[in-house]
Amino acid sequence: MILVTGAAGFIGSNFVRYWREKSEEPLLLVDSLAYAGNAENLEGLSTQEGVSELIVADIGDKAKISDLLKKHMPRAVINFAAETHVDRSIMQPDRFMQANVVSLFELLESVRKYWADLDSKNRTSFRFVQISTDEVYGSLELSDPPFDENSRYAPNSPYSASKAAGDHFVRAYYHTYGLPTLITNCSNNYGPYQFPEKLIPLCIIKALELKPLPIYGDGLQIRDWLHVNDHCDALVRVLEQGVPGEVYNVGGNCEMENINLVRLICRILDDLSPRADKESYAELITFVEDRAGHDRRYAVDNQKIGRMLNWKPSRTIDVGLRETVDWYLQNQGWTEKVCGPAYKDWLAFQYGGKS
Ligand code: NAD
Ligand code: DAU
Repeated sequence: MILVTGAAGFIGSNFVRYWREKSEEPLLLVDSLAYAGNAENLEGLSTQEGVSELIVADIGDKAKISDLLKKHMPRAVINFAAETHVDRSIMQPDRFMQANVVSLFELLESVRKYWADLDSKNRTSFRFVQISTDEVYGSLELSDPPFDENSRYAPNSPYSASKAAGDHFVRAYYHTYGLPTLITNCSNNYGPYQFPEKLIPLCIIKALELKPLPIYGDGLQIRDWLHVNDHCDALVRVLEQGVPGEVYNVGGNCEMENINLVRLICRILDDLSPRADKESYAELITFVEDRAGHDRRYAVDNQKIGRMLNWKPSRTIDVGLRETVDWYLQNQGWTEKVCGPAYKDWLAFQYGGKS
């Protein structure tokens, strides 16, 4: 049994699907259903054998998490739970401090106590995998080499600062108590079930509504894109073969400027869902005010996980993005369900009512 926290979010729900295709081992799913967590992301899964009903709980709820651990005796915890959107962290940093630092700390405490009471064989084989981000390393210049596991932490946003603080606690629990923890620092993921506040789903959905596609600043910021299933593949390898105390960077070898990524989305949409007026969706691209403190470039060196765990990304952006755009086209009902009034309020606030 594996405890998956943050299971109703984008990567968590994709991980649950990925795991079910590879393994019969049961999963226990926990999520607080914060705005980006949606039970719809797990549709068709919780009724499958070996996947629990979603347990709605905050990872910081020590009583509830400790009870679950005692009752189900998982051999590992894989923690996806977090506040994840940089723009929101600029406006509501306190929520990021709470979820990504305080609640994570409480989770570590619950897990440490559970783990300490295990017999020595189960204590040795137990794993705690913390899903983190390349953003903890800060921003690169164009001439810099990609971040590797020895890059200095230099987080720039409240989001990345909260993730960095979380990583430090996880690391400390390994060094101080011997809790067998592993940390992964991954680049930008894309794929199905991503909440439409992030660049790719936001642009797909706005394009279909023929609304402006907002590009922050000059659009020349660079991100390193990875399909979510490739991330899940890396995580399974880290869970099963990774060495406790180690950090693994996970990246797509796919650096792209935001403007070029959005142009590619538009070209795919032109092909898969041409506009009635025969215009290109690219005509909707609109440059807007830049994000405060916007990191210029992220890129991740994959060599360690490639060498140690024999992992590499399998999908090219052309293939993965086309599949993703197609998924959003085929699942517009999902978008309707997850984009409730609170999301619409956020868009109105973020884009000054021009959403
Ligand atoms: P997401 O926002 O889609 O999902 C996060 C999930 O965590 C949501 O379901 C939310 O309800 C849940 N959650 C939040 N606070 C919680 C709490 N206190 N207790 C229980 N559940 C809580 O985010 P995602 O993109 O799926 O990211 C998952 C993890 O991967 C995060 O830790 C994020 O930092 C990390 N990450 C994401 C990316 C990316 O590109 N999306 C890249 C690298 C790392
Ligand atoms: O690098 C990993 C990180 O990637 C994860 O840790 C975060 O959880 C995840 O949200 C993501 O962070 P980014 O800030 O890079 O992702 P986002 O999709 O918000 O933005 C991608 C780029 O696009 C970024 O340079 C900002 C820009 N952008 C974003 C939005 C939402 C725009 O130009 N316009 C937009 O409307």
